[in-house]
Amino acid sequence: MKLLFIDGCVSQRGPASRTRALAEAFLSAFQESHPGAEVETVTLEALDFKPFLPAALNRRDELASAGAFGAPVFGLARQFQAADKIAAAPFWDMSFPAVMRIYIEHISANGLCYHYEAGGCHGDCRADRLAYLTTSGDFERPESLGVLYWKQLSKMFGVPRFDYVFAGGLDVDPAKAPELLEAACEQARALGRSF
Ligand SMILES: Cc1cc2nc3c(=O)[nH]c(=O)nc-3n(C[C@H](O)[C@H](O)[C@H](O)COP(=O)(O)O)c2cc1C
Repeated sequence: MKLLFIDGCVSQRGPASRTRALAEAFLSAFQESHPGAEVETVTLEALDFKPFLPAALNRRDELASAGAFGAPVFGLARQFQAADKIAAAPFWDMSFPAVMRIYIEHISANGLCYHYEAGGCHGDCRADRLAYLTTSGDFERPESLGVLYWKQLSKMFGVPRFDYVFAGGLDVDPAKAPELLEAACEQARALGRSF
């Protein structure tokens, strides 16, 4: 089994990032209970990529029309297409850091990760599961866009099962943040063990 960790833990806290703590809780429990599994990490902050503008989209469309999905522009999409995955990012400005949105542009490759049929969009990813882990200043709301966005992406990419852990309310009362984070880390560990 192979797990792709989409690391969107962009944080001014550096290694003390609460989102990273949540991701590490998941990953350590996952690795303990799946000793043979391979974990591959894609660190979004380290990627040298740009949002797509029309000229780059035209080039990508030409390559897709020629079936040239081995081209470098499809590298992130090929990696995403092939594995089970977890994504982690803090809740920023109602969703997640912009670098994650750019990543989503790169993995949304028509003809590789999904295609259109008469009935609409059909997902082509090989994964059974996708989980999204996030931390937030405010408490969780049903309309929290980061979670909804990844839930919709799972559907679009044909990944049947979506789970998430939301560590909310971390900036409401600093005294209560460690307790809230630990409760969410416990959920993340349980998810990691059962993934
Ligand atoms: C640029 C930025 C934007 C943020 N936007 C939101 C937001 O829209 N809603 C919210 O509840 N918290 C927001 N927060 C608070 C973070 O989600 C929260 O502090 C989170 O735990 C940070 O994770 P970290 O410890 O991994 O950096 C924002 C924080 C930053 C730095």
